[in-house]
Amino acid sequence: MCGSAGLGWLVLLLSLVNVEAQKQPYSALDISSKCLGSIMRVDVGPLQGKLLEVAVIINNSSILLTPRLASQCGFSMTTDQLGGAKIYASLQNCFAQNVDTGFMTTLNLRLHGNQMDEDELYQVAETCQYATWASREIVCDHNYMEVSVQRAAPDDYVLPKYPIPRAISRFGDPRHAPEKWPTESGFRMTTIMFFTPEERTMKLTEALKSGYGMASTPSRMILRSLKTTPETYVQNVAGVPMTVLKSSTIFEQKWLATKIDAAAACPILEGSVSFTPDRITWYLPWHIDPLVSSEKFKLLEVHMGVSGQRLDAAEMAARQYSMSVNDLYVISEIPVGAVGGYFKSHIQDNQYLVTYSIEPMVELLWTEDDALEDTRYKVLFPITTPLLSHPPQVIDNTVPKEQTFKMLLGPFGTDVALVNISFPSEVLSVADCNVRGFNVLEHMSPNSSTKVFTIEVPFMDPVVQMTEEGFTAYSLHLTFGLLVLPELVPFSHTAHLEAKLTESDPPSVSSGCDGQNFYVLVKYRTQGLQLKVGKQTLTPELAQHYGFSDNGTHFSLTVPFLAPGVVFEALEKSTIRSRLDLVLWNPETKIKIKHFSVACNFRSTLTECFPNGTMTVLALKLESVPGLNTSLLTLRDPTCGPSFSNDQFAYFVFTVNSCGTSRKFLSNRMVYENEISLPEETETETSDEEEPLYELRVSCHYAINTTHALAFHTSPQVNDPYTYADARGEPEAVMRLALDDSYSVFYRAEDYPVAKYPKQPLYFEVELMGSTSSVVSLELENCWVTLKNDRMSQPRWNLITDGCANPAGSYQVVFHPVQPNARVKYPSNVKRFELQMFALAENQHNVRHQLFVHCDVVICDSRNPLGGICTRRCPNKETQIRGRRQAVSYAVLSFKHVSSGPIVTSLT
Ligand SMILES: *[C@@H]1O[C@H](CO)[C@@H](O)[C@H](O)[C@H]1NC(C)=O
Ligand SMILES: *[C@@H]1O[C@H](CO)[C@@H](O)[C@H](O)[C@H]1NC(C)=O
Ligand SMILES: *[C@@H]1O[C@H](CO)[C@@H](O)[C@H](O)[C@H]1NC(C)=O
Ligand SMILES: *[C@@H]1O[C@H](CO)[C@@H](O)[C@H](O)[C@H]1NC(C)=O
Ligand SMILES: *[C@@H]1O[C@H](CO)[C@@H](O)[C@H](O)[C@H]1NC(C)=O
Ligand SMILES: *[C@@H]1O[C@H](CO)[C@@H](O)[C@H](O)[C@H]1NC(C)=O
Ligand SMILES: *[C@@H]1O[C@H](CO)[C@@H](O)[C@H](O)[C@H]1NC(C)=O
Ligand SMILES: *[C@@H]1O[C@H](CO)[C@@H](O)[C@H](O)[C@H]1NC(C)=O
Repeated sequence: MCGSAGLGWLVLLLSLVNVEAQKQPYSALDISSKCLGSIMRVDVGPLQGKLLEVAVIINNSSILLTPRLASQCGFSMTTDQLGGAKIYASLQNCFAQNVDTGFMTTLNLRLHGNQMDEDELYQVAETCQYATWASREIVCDHNYMEVSVQRAAPDDYVLPKYPIPRAISRFGDPRHAPEKWPTESGFRMTTIMFFTPEERTMKLTEALKSGYGMASTPSRMILRSLKTTPETYVQNVAGVPMTVLKSSTIFEQKWLATKIDAAAACPILEGSVSFTPDRITWYLPWHIDPLVSSEKFKLLEVHMGVSGQRLDAAEMAARQYSMSVNDLYVISEIPVGAVGGYFKSHIQDNQYLVTYSIEPMVELLWTEDDALEDTRYKVLFPITTPLLSHPPQVIDNTVPKEQTFKMLLGPFGTDVALVNISFPSEVLSVADCNVRGFNVLEHMSPNSSTKVFTIEVPFMDPVVQMTEEGFTAYSLHLTFGLLVLPELVPFSHTAHLEAKLTESDPPSVSSGCDGQNFYVLVKYRTQGLQLKVGKQTLTPELAQHYGFSDNGTHFSLTVPFLAPGVVFEALEKSTIRSRLDLVLWNPETKIKIKHFSVACNFRSTLTECFPNGTMTVLALKLESVPGLNTSLLTLRDPTCGPSFSNDQFAYFVFTVNSCGTSRKFLSNRMVYENEISLPEETETETSDEEEPLYELRVSCHYAINTTHALAFHTSPQVNDPYTYADARGEPEAVMRLALDDSYSVFYRAEDYPVAKYPKQPLYFEVELMGSTSSVVSLELENCWVTLKNDRMSQPRWNLITDGCANPAGSYQVVFHPVQPNARVKYPSNVKRFELQMFALAENQHNVRHQLFVHCDVVICDSRNPLGGICTRRCPNKETQIRGRRQAVSYAVLSFKHVSSGPIVTSLT
């Protein structure tokens, strides 16, 4: 113990003294001194790594305190991790000067910096009063023990000098010390006898040479000894080992001699203290047998303190110290880390370990012999715990909303410095960190025994990794580079922090649809949010397009169901299932606050069939074929591309007689069909093999028996027709049978079945009823004969096919021109033809059957010369039914079907 306390002393080489140093300002160093009963303490700090050497000033000269001189003369010094030093001095130290006001000690403090710096020199003088001297004062200091006893009056105790030995034992207790010690008594210390317990005698000079400090004043004698000398011995006192010094000092005068006994006993650390990881317990026997000679022992006072300073009960409680006295011991308990001590850091295998050091003090006051003798006993007892494992913690104080990782690292002893922080991408010094805004701070604990570091790393800093696409999870890996001072031992600590951002007050969304639009209303509290519609950020133009409005608490928008960004999920019967995806995000932080979707079914006519034979088709790109380039889609005829296309759909406009449209007849409908797909070569070039081929079948159904046209449309995945459109009202066509070629009289409905002889001519007229325009023409596309009323029945005989007389038939179809008259206002609205009943009757099996004549009728518009059926030319002039309009093309306005009533062959 004395060894470590003495390390701070330095040998002063006079040549190093720099006179200039004396001019150093005093303020650089904090120096204070305190009187603490029989000792005083000077606190010096912070030393900032400099070495402190102490000298005493006596008679205007400075005497350096070496370790040996210090322990001999009543000085000790300790340094702590905070860079402070404590110098303890006995009031009765060798150099104390008795002044009227007390004991004065003057110290010179010299701070050695590194070689470039000048030494700093300070002087401190303290005068302490101590009036309550007990008859015996014992101090166990760090490096020495001291006993000071009151000298007895020589009159009472002095015996003739010779013979000495036998008489000595009868001197009685020398501490019966009357006040009046004759100052000029002439007694001198000559000899000291130690009891180990064997008696050893030393001359005074010999004792001083051996390191003992001995002095006497007129009233007291002082003996000071190193804690362990050949003249001390260890005695077990109530289970606690103590170093015991027992002596008798002989004072001689010319004829007389007297002796004073002096004894001291100090506890040894080992055997006195027990440790737990968080508590130090110190047992000090209060009946210290080697120091007590009387049966009449009475313990009067027990005090606890720290660093030589007594503490009152309140202060003890504040520091969580506790002290109790039981049968044998004064038991002092101190929590590890308590105020008054300090941690020292140690690194072993990158493990962080600490020791905790503190210097508790216990003072006892006891009396013996009915209070005639009292002893004040003071122990300064430096304790250091064994190595304690103290793994540093990283406490994550992150509040995700603040978008900054906040952490606390520690606790560490105050001798630890944070040097740098390593991130996966880079290493930053603490200064760099602060430039980057990480706000690295050091905080002392309130009791200042430990410190912690706080660090803040914004989520947006590049060292933070985003672990989710959605910008909502952050991860931070860091390794702290630390250093233990002053030894500069490096160590590190690694931490991993994660944070997820969730909006505490998310906006609420309500949405809906009508037949044409999505409606979205968002109630929000965070300002400055941005909206993405589909994949597009809502630009001012789009906002205007979507009728965006914002009143500070709500915003709303109306998105047409074909707007960019709308996704088509599926085509179902007469409906398109569409979805609008919206994302609310914070443009500053790039945090997605809310992601929501509105899905609606829209009833829609993607195919429209117009009576004039125009078809329009909206070919939607479904979500399931994301790679489709709609601009490459075509109808069957690969030259027929969309008239408009975008990322979502292609819009086709074509006439039913173009672009490879096929036609077929069903029982009472005529169906035009086409397909939309990618042309073959394009498919192999651009289609992803895993993507379904795009094939959209479209058709228009025209009801033959009504004035309605029906449009059917088949989705790429679904075969069922799902939409149809009504072509709006238009004139009806009728077929009549005239009595003769004048076409003036016609059979009436009640005349049927009409009977005709074989080879008798049948005069048919087909008229577009209710027409009011000459630009509309009625054309016979196909006419045929069946045996049943059902026009689709078999067998059938074709009379006219594709507008021309069937060349394969021998039915002698004759077309008759139509001239305007009272009944026929617009000849183009009427067609007439003749055939012979005889021809029909040729087949013997059918002779007795009824016959029905049917025609497919096309209504053309001469103003829209689109070609196709309305302009078809027949191989020869005779079979041409639209002779004078050969060169003109017409658009199909409508398709109709007409049938005659039953006609029977008359055999009579
Ligand atoms: C200091 O000086 C006084 C007289 O001047 C002398 O008695 C004393 O021994 C000196 N002390 C030391 C330590 O030199
Ligand atoms: C110390 O020096 C001062 C002046 O420098 C002087 O007045 C004083 O008497 C001296 N003291 C001793 C003890 O020599
Ligand atoms: C010292 O302060 C630290 C941090 O405030 C605390 O954890 C510890 O318990 C304190 N120690 C004592 C003995 O009060
Ligand atoms: C970081 O600091 C530690 C000291 O604890 C040191 O050992 C290490 O080399 C430093 N790293 C860099 C890259 O400076
Ligand atoms: C904003 O609009 C919403 C919805 O229309 C309405 O409920 C709210 O009261 C409006 N707020 C203000 C401040 O006008
Ligand atoms: C066919 O009718 C539709 C609807 O009335 C019209 O938009 C289109 O232009 C017409 N097409 C032709 C070729 O007349
Ligand atoms: C679609 O194809 C057209 C024609 O090849 C091309 O110009 C266009 O860039 C393509 N679009 C996409 C989105 O690939
Ligand atoms: C037309 O055909 C439908 C069946 O497809 C039938 O229900 C309807 O009665 C027919 N109308 C006329 C006028 O013949």
